[in-house]
Amino acid sequence: MSIFSLKGRTALVTGGARGCGLAFAQSCAEAGADVAIFDVIEPDDTFQALSEKYGVRTAYYEVDVSSEQSLQKGFDRFKSDFSNALDICIPCAGINRHLSFLEFSYQDHHDLLSVNVLGSYFTAQLAARQMIANGTRHGSIILVASIAGQRAIRSQLCSAYCGSKGAVKATCPAIAQELAPHGIRVNSISPGYVRTEMTAGFPQLLESWKGEIMLGRVAEPDDLRGACMFLASDASVYMTGQDIIVDGGVTRW
Ligand SMILES: NC(=O)c1ccc[n+]([C@@H]2O[C@H](COP(=O)([O-])OP(=O)(O)OC[C@H]3O[C@@H](n4cnc5c(N)ncnc54)[C@H](O)[C@@H]3O)[C@@H](O)[C@H]2O)c1
Repeated sequence: MSIFSLKGRTALVTGGARGCGLAFAQSCAEAGADVAIFDVIEPDDTFQALSEKYGVRTAYYEVDVSSEQSLQKGFDRFKSDFSNALDICIPCAGINRHLSFLEFSYQDHHDLLSVNVLGSYFTAQLAARQMIANGTRHGSIILVASIAGQRAIRSQLCSAYCGSKGAVKATCPAIAQELAPHGIRVNSISPGYVRTEMTAGFPQLLESWKGEIMLGRVAEPDDLRGACMFLASDASVYMTGQDIIVDGGVTRW
């Protein structure tokens, strides 16, 4: 199983304080990588425990990925603390706004794009620059899209969110093409319906979505860990520019 090992590598996960980002951070640590997270909130106890549990180094940086300045400052601190090491980057920070298309304001849409699209794009850019500078031979960037980038989400008012996730998915092959000569692979994961704080406010939707899922249940963040380990490691060494859909079969019906 050594092709799945991340021993000796360093990962950065944005939005890693909870939910899917925390599950990604945990996957990397479990496979042996040192892990830093950027988030606007303090990570929960699960993250604090990773270092001792897996014998890896972890760090939390308070960074707002929607701010160019905050992101740059975060990278500067991370770079200096981790001696420029970086092999895996997972820009996972994301937000949703439940507003109807007819009522969505310019400002709300702008704020959402700043996190989901610009935040993801510039996290990947700064990470790629750091990977090129440190000469890693294991560069892997995993963007976080969503099935919402491919279809409407039944009963949810999230047109701006759908557009933002479509943008993340669409940029993946283009960035992959440009980073391939540097030996950095870029892929995305498109989760289906996952039980996190993002969806917790909609218990009736979580219940109704079950009927759309072949596997009959909403995902837990842990259900995404296998795809993360695969894309982060040498197990996916010949894969770039692709999207892995982890949705329990929703988009196949
Ligand atoms: N929950 C789902 O059903 C689902 C499905 C598909 C994709 N996703 C995607 O997975 C990712 C994680 O979502 P989640 O469901 O775990 O939600 P979540 O709300 O539990 O986690 C999002 C994390 O991002 C952080 N964050 C938000 N804005 C930030 C900012 N400006 N700067 C830094 N950090 C910020 C939050 O503090 C939080 O820790 C998002 O990109 C989301 O779009 C979620």
